[in-house]
Amino acid sequence: MTLRFDILTTFPEMFGQEAPAALGLSIPARARTAGVVEWHAHNIRDWAHNKHDRTDDRPFGGGPGMVMSCQPIWDAVHAVEALDSRPATRILLTPQGAPLNQRTAEDLARAPRLLLIAGHYEGVDERVIEALSPREISIGDYVLSGGELAALVLMDAVIRLLPGALGDDDSALQDSFGPLPTTDPNGEPVDPGLLARLLDEFGIAPDTRLLDCPHFTRPRVWEGREVPEVLLSGDHGAVLRWRLEQALARTKARRPDLL
Ligand code: ADE
Repeated sequence: MTLRFDILTTFPEMFGQEAPAALGLSIPARARTAGVVEWHAHNIRDWAHNKHDRTDDRPFGGGPGMVMSCQPIWDAVHAVEALDSRPATRILLTPQGAPLNQRTAEDLARAPRLLLIAGHYEGVDERVIEALSPREISIGDYVLSGGELAALVLMDAVIRLLPGALGDDDSALQDSFGPLPTTDPNGEPVDPGLLARLLDEFGIAPDTRLLDCPHFTRPRVWEGREVPEVLLSGDHGAVLRWRLEQALARTKARRPDLL
């Protein structure tokens, strides 16, 4: 099944489908070619039925900046939703939203259709947010100039999770924040008994999300620095143990909040 994204923005050019556009390269581009994702960017200005096609106005109560008006966003959402029969999950990208994390990305990757609203200027008139009741998502505790880059980040995080998006070379990767490994370095299923024993020994719950372990490639020695011996041993059990140990140590040191 194809996941359909619709993006409502005043900068649709940012969502180009061909390289060098952000999603026109690498995994998102391959996923699109493979038919697992499609995306369509729509200019909110096309629904701004006023004298200068304005999508924003001055804030009531005064203050700097402009506020995105209700009517163009409301009309754009309904017109775009009607373009396809699949129900759309509405998402507003805003620094005031719930922080995006891997579990949210996994959840969104199961939807048939996501409609992303990229706000700009000082914000969006609260009444249209209330009326549309979108999920509100932030990509971090900092302020971007608009929701477009946040939408691109969310799309990339979701697209790479779609079945069929990753090629053979990528699928062996164990991502940070991903579920614990179920396959060994050769793609063989991990012995569940061994994994359970290691988790027990390290005191890790099976649903813990760890940072990724370090990775190495050729040459074996670079500028006097050697690759850890265990990775050359061919002993899959030992490699799994080492990777889990490393992932846990990194998580403890860098992101104890994940444990
Ligand atoms: N728009 C501006 N800043 C943002 C952020 N941090 N996350 C999502 N949307 C945004």
